[in-house]
Amino acid sequence: MDLLLPALVADGLRTRSFGRQIHYFEAVGSTNDIAKELAQAGAPEGTIVLAEEQTQGRGRLGRTWFAPPRSCLLLSLILRPNLAVADAFRLTMLCSLSAAVAVERVSGITPAIKWPNDLLVGAKKLAGILSEASSLENSLQYAIVGIGLNVNFDPSALPEVAASATSLSALAGHEVSRVRLLQELLAEVEARYPSLWPANEDALWADWRCRLGTLGQQVTVSEGGRLEHGLAVDVAPDGSLLLQGDDGRRVTIAVGDVTLRREDS
Ligand code: BTN
Repeated sequence: MDLLLPALVADGLRTRSFGRQIHYFEAVGSTNDIAKELAQAGAPEGTIVLAEEQTQGRGRLGRTWFAPPRSCLLLSLILRPNLAVADAFRLTMLCSLSAAVAVERVSGITPAIKWPNDLLVGAKKLAGILSEASSLENSLQYAIVGIGLNVNFDPSALPEVAASATSLSALAGHEVSRVRLLQELLAEVEARYPSLWPANEDALWADWRCRLGTLGQQVTVSEGGRLEHGLAVDVAPDGSLLLQGDDGRRVTIAVGDVTLRREDS
């Protein structure tokens, strides 16, 4: 089993700045919380926080994030892009796309992106992303992108996740190097970083859209307590999801949680 020791991560890392400053912990509450403290104290863009275990791992929409110790990628990346708050969704596109590409490159497994940013294989979750930003007026001051990626454990042995999650080792039939996965992820985020800027946004959007498994599916989207049912038709360049409702209405959803409608689709 490989540990995520900074010296191992640095050895073979192809990036210029991403992952060059590593804060590594055997156990923390949440890597996102540590990264936020570091960002507030002025840590540079590209700094990462890594943990072998989280005792209070957080997911989207107030959920908890469970991962067995020393088996997953649990990381938070500090970004300081010169972006308007209205464009912050592009970070979600950048990081989910980069994670999908890194997984494919290292393991040969091709995950789909579930809108807005989960990685799925079949119906099961391989990775989740929690982005948290701090802004001043209309500009982002910094963003923390927290990524939890299931790598080397047997989900069927864990009642907490057996029904809903998968891991790379379960899919590939062998362990996968977390160090290599992290190195590829950081290289991919850094290489695609310029695609955040408005002049290049179409390329980022197009690549992210290509990997979205949600499109063409009958879905239910919960958005701030409201449920919308319909066909996921497309995504707009700003990342919002376009639904064709059961009543024929077109609905645009900026933030929400998607579930597939298996029973009635
Ligand atoms: C989700 O799918 O709900 C998002 C899960 C994000 C989990 C990661 S693990 C590393 C980072 N630290 C956290 O507390 N959460 C994110």
